[in-house]
Amino acid sequence: MNFKEELESRVQYAQETIEAFLPKEEGFSRRMAEAVNYSMLAGGKRLRPVFMKAVYDMLGGTSDVIRPFMAAMEMVHTHSLIHDDLPAIDNDEYRRGKKTTHVVFGESAAILAGDALLNYAYETAFRAFDLCQKEEELRQAAAALKILANRTGICGMLGGQGVDVENDGREIDKEMLDYIYENKTSALIEASLMIGAVLAGADRSVVENACQIGSRIGIAFQIQDDILDVTSSRETLGKPVGSDAKNHKTTYVTLEGIEKAQEEAGKLTKEAVELLEQLPGDSRFLKELFLSLMERRK
Ligand code: IPE
Ligand code: IPE
Ligand code: MG
Ligand code: MG
Ligand code: MG
Repeated sequence: MNFKEELESRVQYAQETIEAFLPKEEGFSRRMAEAVNYSMLAGGKRLRPVFMKAVYDMLGGTSDVIRPFMAAMEMVHTHSLIHDDLPAIDNDEYRRGKKTTHVVFGESAAILAGDALLNYAYETAFRAFDLCQKEEELRQAAAALKILANRTGICGMLGGQGVDVENDGREIDKEMLDYIYENKTSALIEASLMIGAVLAGADRSVVENACQIGSRIGIAFQIQDDILDVTSSRETLGKPVGSDAKNHKTTYVTLEGIEKAQEEAGKLTKEAVELLEQLPGDSRFLKELFLSLMERRK
């Protein structure tokens, strides 16, 4: 299999895994489940579950315990997008090529669907315990949950989103910008790689290495996102361009210009690949994936 085929097959596996865990659309809460499923099934690259499974495979993992965590990670991420697009936050009308959740279902329903999806992510992750057969697997699943919760919360993605939004319209320095990127974007990528490692039974140094890789890939990913917000089109991107300028955000692009920002992303990606190559197992797929993200158009 070449890289493109392997990527397609891994995205497909992530997609099937996610679909297997979505809530049923029934009863009085049907509309909420519909809003959740609308957002979850609107498309999306499925990068975080693909990262998680690739590390897990690379480090020798073989059980299905990974699957609820793959779905849970995509749920946390999709929750962050529903709320990120709300009128009070980035106020955007397109996501993943479709109208945003609040445009289709209304603002109050989108707020609640986002909350419900975040909680449902944990309900889903907890289902991993039903699949554990050995004591050791139970311990690994508990450690993975701790990472998921920590990297999602105030010391992770949500913390970053808070500082990001609080500073709309203000010029901020590189130190604060790095804090924002590290948290709003890297945190979930770090968690994906770390959870893959923990569930595969990796030791502490490997998990720490996975965290360092995620930090760099996440910042490079956000820099690329900021560049595409200036250079792409809504049709290609599936979400509006010019969102950052509209919200008067400081980004790597406003601070350094596109060329320098691109260079910085390249440097971080190179560092991530070097760290990846220190890990045991066949890292070729992840290496290609990291490098391909530098060229991404959406
Ligand atoms: C969008 O993430 C939010 C950022 C962190 C920039 P993705 O670009 O991974 O979004 P989807 O999941 O493919 O829609
Ligand atoms: C948000 O960054 C990252 C999240 C945690 C959702 P952006 O606001 O730049 O993400 P997009 O461009 O809307 O996907
Ligand atoms: Mg935002
Ligand atoms: Mg946004
Ligand atoms: Mg953006």
